[in-house]
Amino acid sequence: MDILHEVRKLLEENRRITDGHQYTVPSGDHYPYQWLWDSCFHAIILAQYDLESAKAEIKSLLSKQFSSGLVPHIIYWSPGILHFFRWGVEGTSSLTQPPMLAYAAWEIHRRSEDSSFLASIFPALIAYYRFLLTERDPHGHHLASIINPDESGEDNSPRFDTPLGVTPAVSLKDHLAKRTELVDRNRECNFDAGHCMRDFFWVKDVLFNTVLVENLRVLAKIAAHLKRGEYESSFKRDAEAVAGAMREHMFEDGVYWSTMGVDFIKLKVATWAHFMPLFSGLYTAEEAKTVVSKHLKNRDTFYAPFGIRTTSMQEMSYRPEAEDFSWRGPAWIGTHWFIYRGLMRYGFTEEAADIREKSKVLLERSGFRECFNPETGEGLGAHNFTWGALVLDMMEQ
Ligand code: GLC
Repeated sequence: MDILHEVRKLLEENRRITDGHQYTVPSGDHYPYQWLWDSCFHAIILAQYDLESAKAEIKSLLSKQFSSGLVPHIIYWSPGILHFFRWGVEGTSSLTQPPMLAYAAWEIHRRSEDSSFLASIFPALIAYYRFLLTERDPHGHHLASIINPDESGEDNSPRFDTPLGVTPAVSLKDHLAKRTELVDRNRECNFDAGHCMRDFFWVKDVLFNTVLVENLRVLAKIAAHLKRGEYESSFKRDAEAVAGAMREHMFEDGVYWSTMGVDFIKLKVATWAHFMPLFSGLYTAEEAKTVVSKHLKNRDTFYAPFGIRTTSMQEMSYRPEAEDFSWRGPAWIGTHWFIYRGLMRYGFTEEAADIREKSKVLLERSGFRECFNPETGEGLGAHNFTWGALVLDMMEQ
């Protein structure tokens, strides 16, 4: 398979322009809008061969930024298209998603050396990360909260079963009903973190905060590049404060766990979030070695013939073949990409190459599907789904 050719074709097919804003939909029929972290992935990929489209992807995301600083997780550019995910105000979901924006912006800059692009979006980036550090941390714990599982990027992950009030054996129908109910509650509390957390869903997620740490560091790098020293030092400090709080509240038994409520109760469901902190270097070298040997390469938990399971096979919630219950086991190329980057950061080159090869095999066998049965390699969920394109970034030396 000529991956570059296939990626270019797919991203072109999924490209849309509305009111002068250019963006890419994750899947034409299944996900017909613009999603936040998807667009960051698109920008990272496009930066390799089409810088202007990469920049457009980020600019269109920021065009719907709220005055609070929030960047919405979905922008309903074509409201005529009906879809399950319709909530929020101002043509958006009013929720957010893992904050990969600074990282994506730097990837564009790395290849274009275009300081004017960085300078043009810098104020918006500051506003967004400030929002996460303040509005999403109303009690000053140095951890950003999510007010809905969708904000984690993993809407039906069993990490959130307890705070959502469902059991591991929940049916897809009941799970959706609970999420829809939560969206109604989010509207009731006006998407305000303090109220929404206290009354409905109070979670500090490992993935979200790991992404935040790395992006704050990148933001500090952007500030340094733009000679804004005051921001450089404050974002560096913020990054380390979040990393420190994650260590204090989330780390136990050699891995990080998401937490719930004011007392930081650990949500002890084994998911691939164990590997996420590798991406931001939050494990010591020794800890990382153990995480890789004890968990990542463990065939009885995460390591499957066709990829890394998003939920451990030992969990009661594990469902490798579930079409629309996709974070309860199936492998995703997006999660592979984060793991790949994390492994490379620590010098686990062999393991990283294995993840890259597994991802390529998935594309070759099943095409650009949303996710895959990790036991058989069968494609699941949406078709013509863009995340497979991240393989291109894993192939870059
Ligand atoms: C699914 C995924 C989410 C993604 C969205 C659009 O809801 O869980 O992470 O952003 O699809 O691709």
